[in-house]
Amino acid sequence: MSFLLGIDVSTTATKAVVMDERGNVVATASDEYEFFTPRPLWAEQNPSDWWRACVNVIRRVLEKIPAREIAGIGLTGQMHGLVLLDKDGNVLRPCIMWNDQRTAKQCAEITERVGGAKNVLQLIGNPVLPGFTAPKILWVRENEPEVYARAAHVLLPKDYLRYMLTGAYATEVSDASGTALLDVAKRDWSDELLKASDIPRAWLPDVFESPVVSAKISAGAARETGLVQGTPVVGGGGDQAAQAVGTGIVQEGIVSATLGTSGVVFASSDSYRLEPNGLLHAFCHAAPNKWHLMGVMLSAAGSFRWFRDALGEEEKREARSENKDVYEILTAEAARVEAGCEGLIFLPYLTGERTPYPDPNARGTFFGITLRHSKDHFARAVLEGVAYGLRDSLELMRALGLNISQVRASGGGARSALWRQILADVFNSEIALVNWNPESGFRTEGAAYGAALLAGVGAGVYASVEEACAQTIRVTNSVTPSQYVGVYKEYYQVYRGLYPALKDSFEKVGAAAARAV
Ligand code: XUL
Repeated sequence: MSFLLGIDVSTTATKAVVMDERGNVVATASDEYEFFTPRPLWAEQNPSDWWRACVNVIRRVLEKIPAREIAGIGLTGQMHGLVLLDKDGNVLRPCIMWNDQRTAKQCAEITERVGGAKNVLQLIGNPVLPGFTAPKILWVRENEPEVYARAAHVLLPKDYLRYMLTGAYATEVSDASGTALLDVAKRDWSDELLKASDIPRAWLPDVFESPVVSAKISAGAARETGLVQGTPVVGGGGDQAAQAVGTGIVQEGIVSATLGTSGVVFASSDSYRLEPNGLLHAFCHAAPNKWHLMGVMLSAAGSFRWFRDALGEEEKREARSENKDVYEILTAEAARVEAGCEGLIFLPYLTGERTPYPDPNARGTFFGITLRHSKDHFARAVLEGVAYGLRDSLELMRALGLNISQVRASGGGARSALWRQILADVFNSEIALVNWNPESGFRTEGAAYGAALLAGVGAGVYASVEEACAQTIRVTNSVTPSQYVGVYKEYYQVYRGLYPALKDSFEKVGAAAARAV
């Protein structure tokens, strides 16, 4: 039996997963690091921290599975980050991450240079957004000319690990889609965008399809990690595409809703389709000849974490003294309240928003408070508000004619049975869990698992990404909509009206708050 290794350089940790050919997870390891916010709206990480964590997790999983039995390696990770290297492959500055919001000016600049928003959409399938990679390159050019002068290579976070593991400068189509430099329809770099942004094509890595072998483990990396020199490394995928492979989202009609720090609704598409206003990301899928549409909300389970930290001191104490999970205590409180929270509605825009409102000024809001509302209502309103936010993305997909028959929930927040029921009611759709095991519990290593499946295709274990999913992924749990669908339908209409009504006020309050600090 051979084994497959998936490595995920996520926002909080690098994670490794080893699975056997049947998809059973046989070893996992995780090593955490921090990110830095040197200024408001900035987010940076040191690529050397990822590499240290990567070596550590590989060494740990190899204590369980001999390196010679690893048939292939797949990489995945946080998307959109800018890693700049000099001509000798040295990192020139910290990575500017996906959640960094410093580049509004550069986004406008690129958009203007290609003749406006419509042209950009035509060329790359997406607007140029502040989190994306291209405007970050321009930001470095304008603000750190001495760094820019030495730049020779641009890599995404997981592709930096590939460089360290193999010496190759390479990426793959799903992650490259989030750079604002890829012609997503053609699955290759866009000469027009490169020219308009004045970025040399030679700086960009070769683009592979996700399950194709891109490079092999070098002698140096073999010494450092314990892997066998020559082990194939496939393209891999951006974390959302790899997560989708890991939950079997490779055919039309099945959609995933991921409740991580951010919240993502992801649909596979057999053809290249665009949301006419660019409100959904239109990216290449990690399955060749497929694309995906994706809505990203910036604070999903992150909103509930905020609630825990801001208002859950008592529950944290109880969790510590009774050895319980604080989220279980908070969701039990939320479950005491009726669906719809008697009209209390939460807007989950705690860190601005991306889909469907690409607006860094948007703010979290509780609306409709009365004397009857208790802390339990506020807890439930957070869970419901996140579900409404995800439904916004689902509605954009439905409007494009995607027929959605099942939604698969994943991410840490999907552990909560209450949250899954709220999703089923707000979406009016079945919510399924895959590969959930009542004994070992919930699997959260989705993206690394998906990357390992992609490695299996490259190593010849599976004939295709679709076959890899069919052999390893099973629906094991599902909830259907309850009698509260009608209640949520009404409140969702109210929710939809709130952002447009508050948009200008968000901008004003943001400006006032910025003056105050
Ligand atoms: C996707 C996105 C995030 C990051 C971090 O567009 O911005 O999912 O990849 O997870």
